[in-house]
Amino acid sequence: MSGLFITLEGPEGAGKSTNRDYLAERLRSAGCEVVLTREPGGTPLAERIRELLLAPSEEAMAVDTELLLVFAARAQHLAQVIRPALAAGRVVLCDRFTDATYAYQGGGRGLPQERIAQLEAFVQGGLRPDLTLVFDLPVEVGLARAQARGRLDRFEQEAQAFFEAVRRTYLERASLAPGRYRVLDAGQPLAAVQAQLDGLLPELLDRARG
Ligand code: TMP
Repeated sequence: MSGLFITLEGPEGAGKSTNRDYLAERLRSAGCEVVLTREPGGTPLAERIRELLLAPSEEAMAVDTELLLVFAARAQHLAQVIRPALAAGRVVLCDRFTDATYAYQGGGRGLPQERIAQLEAFVQGGLRPDLTLVFDLPVEVGLARAQARGRLDRFEQEAQAFFEAVRRTYLERASLAPGRYRVLDAGQPLAAVQAQLDGLLPELLDRARG
């Protein structure tokens, strides 16, 4: 098997974690060696950067600081986890990656896409996900789910307009490169979302088997 890099994206409350675990299990049952990881984070050092990014703090974080921290964590994650796993022929299933930077720091915070693209080229070289699953759902539904989970992190405290821009950016990116993206309706009940994932499984396995 050759390495396969799959990323999972979507706004808050889209059920990514549950669906990520489900997909990992299905791929493993089919014989794939799966590395399940997430961003920001995925290594001890990158998880410390994640804490800086998510913790509400009295000192406002400058938008460029946020952008650089996200890519600093990503550089570490790529070096320690993602590149070695792909080189070993594994399936890397990553909960968020650079599409989240375009959606949150670009769409949400309003940073120019070109600045993100420059850092993407610097940190990743030519590496891009092979496939990106976007768990899409109306912003109000996602925020209600996130709120029901309890204390909100620094991003979850943003206003609805921020998340509308996040969602719009994901959908725009998906429509511009339909070969790489699959958009799932995450507003449906869990069983229905998992049925959508089951529908994608043959294609994922085909790709994983090179
Ligand atoms: P989550 O993994 O629990 O969804 O939380 C991660 C948060 O970090 C989420 O609100 C999105 C945000 N984020 C960015 O703003 N930019 C990024 O590049 C990544 C990977 C995540």
